[in-house]
Amino acid sequence: MKSEVVKLAPSILAADFARLGEQVAEAERAGADRIHIDVMDGHFVPNISMGAPIVKSLRSVTRLPLETHLMISNPDLFLEEFVEAGSDSFLVHWEGNNNLHRTVQRIKALGKRAGVAINPATPAAVLEEILPDVDQVLVMTVDPGFGHQHFLSTTLPKIRRVRQMLGQIKRGHDLEVDGGIDAETAPAAAAAGANVLVAGTAVFDEREGVTAAMNRLQAGVKRLET
Ligand code: DX5
Ligand code: ZN
Repeated sequence: MKSEVVKLAPSILAADFARLGEQVAEAERAGADRIHIDVMDGHFVPNISMGAPIVKSLRSVTRLPLETHLMISNPDLFLEEFVEAGSDSFLVHWEGNNNLHRTVQRIKALGKRAGVAINPATPAAVLEEILPDVDQVLVMTVDPGFGHQHFLSTTLPKIRRVRQMLGQIKRGHDLEVDGGIDAETAPAAAAAGANVLVAGTAVFDEREGVTAAMNRLQAGVKRLET
């Protein structure tokens, strides 16, 4: 993306939960666009992470939008609980949802932003009919379920393809990427067309601290914009 500023969405999956409020506040001061919250149920993905109480606690420590990435079976059952806790937007997967359109309509009826996520093995073509109904697309650049994984560069052509599809709709959707984003991989993802980068390990797991880590990520992408 050359014409638009690339935004950062720190994923708290890699945060130190004993210092979560502090670390999120630091990410906000360092220029985060939103906070990405990974919800896993041990069924949709082989890992368990966190639920609505974390969103509720974070709501009182940041003004940033709380973006909730639902990696759970039956997301419809939990939408209201997350909205009450303070979620501003939802990313729901195409995979495993036979009624994705209904899920998206429910999110919109709750007054929240809706995004569709696709896994590495899922083609961009499945997005075609749902794109006009959503605000955002999330292209997973790792298989969902865990932080600290390597960016799959085989997803780059798909990011380009989704950017083309969005160009045809012209409605200002966000195109977000999630998984293995660091100072080395961020420029390639942004050059392929992503305008929101989720980063967990590269923001919260760096010895240098959250601010320095975010500055490094932003610097890598800025070089590309100029
Ligand atoms: C993976 C999650 C990601 C994860 C990214 O299933 O959706 O949001 O936290 O973590 P890193 O940046 O460590 O790959
Ligand atoms: Zn995520």
